[in-house]
Amino acid sequence: MVAAGLLVLSLVAFAQGAPTPDVMRVHERRAAPPNGFVKTTPGADADSAVVSLRIALKSDPAPLHKALLDVSTPGSANYRKFLTKAETDALVAPSADGLAAIDAWLSSANVTSTPAATNQWLNIDVPVASANALLDADFQTYTNAETGKTAIRTLAYSLPKSVQPFVDFVFPATSFPVQSAKGVAAVHHARAPLNPAHPVRAAVAASCADTVTPTCLQALYNIPTDPATSAKNTLAVSSFVQSNASTTDLSDFLTSFRPDLSSQPSFEVTSVDNGVNDETDPSVEGSLDIQYTVGIATNVPTTFFVVGENNDGDVGGFLDLVNTFLAAKTPPTTFTTSFGFPEELISADLAQNLCNAYAQLGARGVSAFFSSGDSGVDDGQGGTCTTFRPTFPASCPFVTVVGSTTGISPETAADFSSGGFSNVFDQPSYQADAVGNYLSLLGNTNAGLFNTTGRGYPDVSAQGVSYQVNIGGTVSPVSGTSASTPLFASIVSLLNDRLIAGGKSPLGFMNPFLYAGGQVALNDVVSGSNPGCGTDGFPAKSGWDPVTGLGTPDFKKFSTLLGI
Ligand SMILES: *[C@@H]1O[C@H](CO)[C@@H](O)[C@H](O)[C@H]1NC(C)=O
Ligand SMILES: *[C@@H]1O[C@H](CO)[C@@H](O)[C@H](O)[C@H]1NC(C)=O
Ligand SMILES: *[C@@H]1O[C@H](CO)[C@@H](O)[C@H](O)[C@H]1NC(C)=O
Repeated sequence: MVAAGLLVLSLVAFAQGAPTPDVMRVHERRAAPPNGFVKTTPGADADSAVVSLRIALKSDPAPLHKALLDVSTPGSANYRKFLTKAETDALVAPSADGLAAIDAWLSSANVTSTPAATNQWLNIDVPVASANALLDADFQTYTNAETGKTAIRTLAYSLPKSVQPFVDFVFPATSFPVQSAKGVAAVHHARAPLNPAHPVRAAVAASCADTVTPTCLQALYNIPTDPATSAKNTLAVSSFVQSNASTTDLSDFLTSFRPDLSSQPSFEVTSVDNGVNDETDPSVEGSLDIQYTVGIATNVPTTFFVVGENNDGDVGGFLDLVNTFLAAKTPPTTFTTSFGFPEELISADLAQNLCNAYAQLGARGVSAFFSSGDSGVDDGQGGTCTTFRPTFPASCPFVTVVGSTTGISPETAADFSSGGFSNVFDQPSYQADAVGNYLSLLGNTNAGLFNTTGRGYPDVSAQGVSYQVNIGGTVSPVSGTSASTPLFASIVSLLNDRLIAGGKSPLGFMNPFLYAGGQVALNDVVSGSNPGCGTDGFPAKSGWDPVTGLGTPDFKKFSTLLGI
């Protein structure tokens, strides 16, 4: 009877010329939850629990990538003529047809979307039962056995054929929380022995080989100590996983290490996802990041972006932070992040989406810096690796990635300095020559253990061992690409200050410039390596290498090159 009834209905529909039924097609599926997550017995209210989903709208990224390279490549007529918010929004706008199809689908299920921070997302808050019906999904509560954190996720979901071409993915759905790793290395003290053939530079105290202070870095990298003057030039520092920083510690740090300052600069805090900076409970990472931005980028207006709540340390928090910047009329000029993820734990679609958000920041003139990671050629997730495991966002070709060095005469690669080649992102053209040169110098070493067609990282490096940091009133040595990254970003923010004060455009996305001439302002690092996965890792070599990138910065040389 039922079958007959359905047949009749479909015949009627056919006779009226109605569209063929909108079949559901599986859009994303995973075989099992990731390690650590187990399905937990749902409570009686499981179906009425509300899930917040965001729909990533598809747009062709090619025009964005073209525009980014157009404004970032020296010699281009549009070099450093950055796009406005309206211009980038237009470049990545989803199609009107797509929006109409999605709207029809949601309305037919009585679901109302709310606009997101940018035009590339729609948000929906729906009870589990409605989410299951809408997406042909099976949302369940999963608990991470280690952390005890719960997440409502599904192993698969479908989309109607009519909307599938217009939706990139639904988040988080099948994306389980991945806790980002901080870039603070377990202190290896991977210091190279001083090479007697290269006497310590006169201006750099010998103690700097063991104990890195702002004075050491200023001497080593020719960083100016005089204050920045532009109020328009801003520096943003990411804080995930409750990485608190204390203003009292900063003040004590400046008293000890910047006695030259007549008035002490500080920082502002902006909360994203209800993040809270608890000044009374400072963390190693937050203290390091704030002290080596405010303490080096003298007087550059600096804001600590504290990302909290459920997205704490997860990719969702990274999306919320970059979308906060993209939603702003004026994003920060320079942005530093000392957190990252194993690339293989994140879906390729999600990684591409986030990477394209960074590309938009670049098109708008933001210089974004990320740590390469602290696990050599591995990604820090533990377990055994059969091939080298890259990190993300370091593997994104539209950000500038910073590795670590140690020692001063000469600088050598810090052994934890992560580097390698993406398994998701292709090698960008700006680094083709530099990477090709390295691969030919490398020969057969590590053959088969890494992806020769992937984006190579890091792009640059800086000192990363034994930074003196004041944490809760005690000065301790801290090592990691987490130290190198805020330092490099601070140097660039001082360059941006001089550029803006002189009526020039800031540097924006620096990679095409760095690989096409900018490297003359970097000190090439040619010794050391980044062991991991039971190998010696990649050796540093003359020119670019996947341990120290193109080398460490020299502010004076950059100033000369930029005419400031
Ligand atoms: C949507 O709401 C209308 C009016 O309340 C109701 O008749 C219809 O059954 C609902 N549809 C779905 C799919 O929930
Ligand atoms: C930051 O402060 C919060 C709130 O007091 C605390 O729970 C957290 O543990 C602190 N973070 C760190 C890394 O100490
Ligand atoms: C190697 O990298 C490319 C991107 O350049 C990617 O498409 C490919 O799947 C990767 N190969 C492996 C084995 O991961």
